Amino acid sequence: MKQFLLVFTVLLCRAAAQPPPAVVIPPDGQEYLDAHNKARADVGVGPLKWNFQLAKATSLLVRFQRDRENCRFANLTSGKYGGNQMWATGEVVTPRRVVENWVSEKLYYTHDNNSCAPDHRCGVYTQVVWRSSAELGCAMASCLPDQSTLAICFYNPPGNVIGESPY
Ligand SMILES: *[C@@H]1O[C@H](CO)[C@@H](O)[C@H](O)[C@H]1NC(C)=O
Ligand SMILES: *[C@@H]1O[C@H](CO)[C@@H](O)[C@H](O)[C@H]1NC(C)=O
Repeated sequence: MKQFLLVFTVLLCRAAAQPPPAVVIPPDGQEYLDAHNKARADVGVGPLKWNFQLAKATSLLVRFQRDRENCRFANLTSGKYGGNQMWATGEVVTPRRVVENWVSEKLYYTHDNNSCAPDHRCGVYTQVVWRSSAELGCAMASCLPDQSTLAICFYNPPGNVIGESPY
């Protein structure tokens, strides 16, 4: 809890020090966005845009998971958005690190036949590069005492449509 509040305070101070541009994407939002858009550009897929409704929804969800579920994975099966999540402990988690973790599954994904190597979960990668997903919102929260972190991104429209190729 303390850790999360500290990070949040730093972000607020940084935002307050700058004159507000027309569209304000928080620094961590920009980092999630840049990491996604790099992975998308690598396979010729256009960029995502930051969406504040999605960011707000992920923010509420990670706070719920922090306060009620000790930062365990959320149940995303019934949501209307596409969702990726990452849980980590014992390390400093940055937005870039979160997205790179999902993109690392690219190694096990074969685009030619749209399949994933056994014992891997390429769905986190294919959601990152899903062409028809246009908007992104993400948030993370940390839990004491085990210093775990849960990060969640939502995508709209959702990707990973069964039987379809991401791009
Ligand atoms: C997640 O939610 C779905 C739909 O509400 C439910 O069917 C499923 O059992 C839940 N899964 C877990 C692990 O709680
Ligand atoms: C897809 O292609 C890869 C690489 O050629 C191969 O290893 C894998 O078995 C194929 N998967 C399916 C389901 O055909």
